[in-house]
Amino acid sequence: MSQAPQSASQEPSGEQWASRIGVILAVAGSAVGLGNFLRFPGNAAQNGAGAFMIPYFVSLLVLGIPLCWAEWTMGRYGGKKGFNSAPGVFSVIWPHPAAKYFGAIALMIPLVIYMYYVLIEAWCLGYAINYATGALMKGSDPAAYDSFFGTFVGAGKDGALLAPGNRRWLWVLCGVFMLNFTLIYRGVSKGIEAFCKVAMPVMAALALIVLVRVLTLGEHEGRGVLDGLGYMWNPNFEKLKNPQTWLAASGQIFFSLSVGFGIIVNYASYLKDEDDVVLSGLTSSSMNEFFEVCLGGLITIPAAFIFMGALDPDTLDSSFALGFRALPNVFGAMWGGRVIGFLWFFMLFVAAITSSVSMLQPVIAFFEEGFGLKRHASAAILGLITAMGCGFVVWFSQDLMVLDTFDFWVGSVLIFLLALVQSILYGWIFGIKRGEEQAHIGAHLRIPRFVQLMLKYVVPVYLLVIFGAFCWNNVLSHDEQAGSIPNAMAAELTEGAPSAALIDALADLEEPVEVPAGAVIRAAGDNSPAQLVGEDEKLLATFEAADAEGIPVLSHATGRLETILNTESALSAILFVGMVLAFLLVSIHIAGRRWVAEGRLRYGEAQ
Ligand code: PFF
Repeated sequence: MSQAPQSASQEPSGEQWASRIGVILAVAGSAVGLGNFLRFPGNAAQNGAGAFMIPYFVSLLVLGIPLCWAEWTMGRYGGKKGFNSAPGVFSVIWPHPAAKYFGAIALMIPLVIYMYYVLIEAWCLGYAINYATGALMKGSDPAAYDSFFGTFVGAGKDGALLAPGNRRWLWVLCGVFMLNFTLIYRGVSKGIEAFCKVAMPVMAALALIVLVRVLTLGEHEGRGVLDGLGYMWNPNFEKLKNPQTWLAASGQIFFSLSVGFGIIVNYASYLKDEDDVVLSGLTSSSMNEFFEVCLGGLITIPAAFIFMGALDPDTLDSSFALGFRALPNVFGAMWGGRVIGFLWFFMLFVAAITSSVSMLQPVIAFFEEGFGLKRHASAAILGLITAMGCGFVVWFSQDLMVLDTFDFWVGSVLIFLLALVQSILYGWIFGIKRGEEQAHIGAHLRIPRFVQLMLKYVVPVYLLVIFGAFCWNNVLSHDEQAGSIPNAMAAELTEGAPSAALIDALADLEEPVEVPAGAVIRAAGDNSPAQLVGEDEKLLATFEAADAEGIPVLSHATGRLETILNTESALSAILFVGMVLAFLLVSIHIAGRRWVAEGRLRYGEAQ
């Protein structure tokens, strides 16, 4: 298709990057964030350590970098036609009235991620302050740090953060919120670019100081730096057979590179027509990889291992727990820990701001060009929406359920979907021939031809397969074989609290089943097997009919869909996301009518 809408009265925002290094640092600033220092090490350690690097680099080369080039190219092209926001850029790429609505996903992802990311950003600053005052130096007592974290984030109960004593940390959150909006208000080059130019080198310097300290830690209870690095990097090739490892790797690449978020499309639209996109895209991705693999991969887990030994899988599981719960043990026990703890959390805070401002810009750009609003008006509207969302996350703090629900459905599921939409827009609608031509205008480097073919044929299929497997694995509930308990235990599968012997037998299974306090046995009925259910009637395990080896036990892995249906706060989070989507779709509809009326967009017209 070689049609594109005319953009007769181009009405560019007037915003432009001031320098080439500035835009590269701004994109790298968006990419380098909590994902590099917290999410990557946890993901890698859990999914085969060194072996994780195989699917990780395959995803980087097959998905990450090609899609990053496609986004840079489409973004600059959209900018040339007078649009900065995803609904506008997508309409230029695909001159069809439906195109703009896909832009809703590209606005929604950064908008919703901002609502919880800014909170974690404030935790980082809060932790840095607590190191500065010494309040977080509690020696080596893991329970003390866990309880500090639990209270600090209000994980115990909804509304806990508004309790007296905790409220002062909300002021830190307000401050962080204001800082983000101040930067955005100052604009693309005076705000984002100027800030990233200073923040990126500061971040690198702080991370290097912490790295040097970690590599000179010496021995602790017989574990040294080499053991720490070995724990992080010794490959476990078995894990490569598990599809979950491949899913985790590609999810990590997207999250980390800020690809598939609609951000690069927006940032690239502020380039000048002849500015290079190929080398800039590659440079910012490489910078991100340096921060992720060389700094993120060498600090967090090796340090935690030296001081604590093998980490509990639950700690690794939650990307954020690692930094906030495991590392304070390390800082508490090492020489100079208070200063290093402060530098570490302050560095994370800086890394997080350069990412969070990038989440606001695409939406601001949409309000400005969709409704002709001035910057203060669009910033005020966005401030109101994000404050509501953030307030929602702050209030429903129990078990961080809302944060987790947003992170899963928007920070993982929707990213795959948007990456898929963008690869189809580029490969099949914009066309790889035009894409290749456009990408090379002003380029300082040539993209090998096969990358274009990959973008058209391999990327969408790879994404579709991964997306399908991801949903199958995580969205739906599964009953998995956990092993068998001895036949003699049949007598203990009677109504009521499980016996101590049964609890022990469940803990000894090949895949141990943990029995939480308050769980009970529901005895077998005529047509139903005996089951173990939690206090809240949540299914934990099923006992099948005995065979030669014993009584097979199936452990119940709760899928995300079941969580939504059973947990009120998760359900409210989904409803909230649905409302945001509806709001964006209506806004995009109105903006689209305006663009057509103003003659900025003409559907189906050849250029
Ligand atoms: N890439 C960022 C990180 O690694 O922490 C996260 C991020 C940035 C997510 C921008 C979403 C976004 F819009």
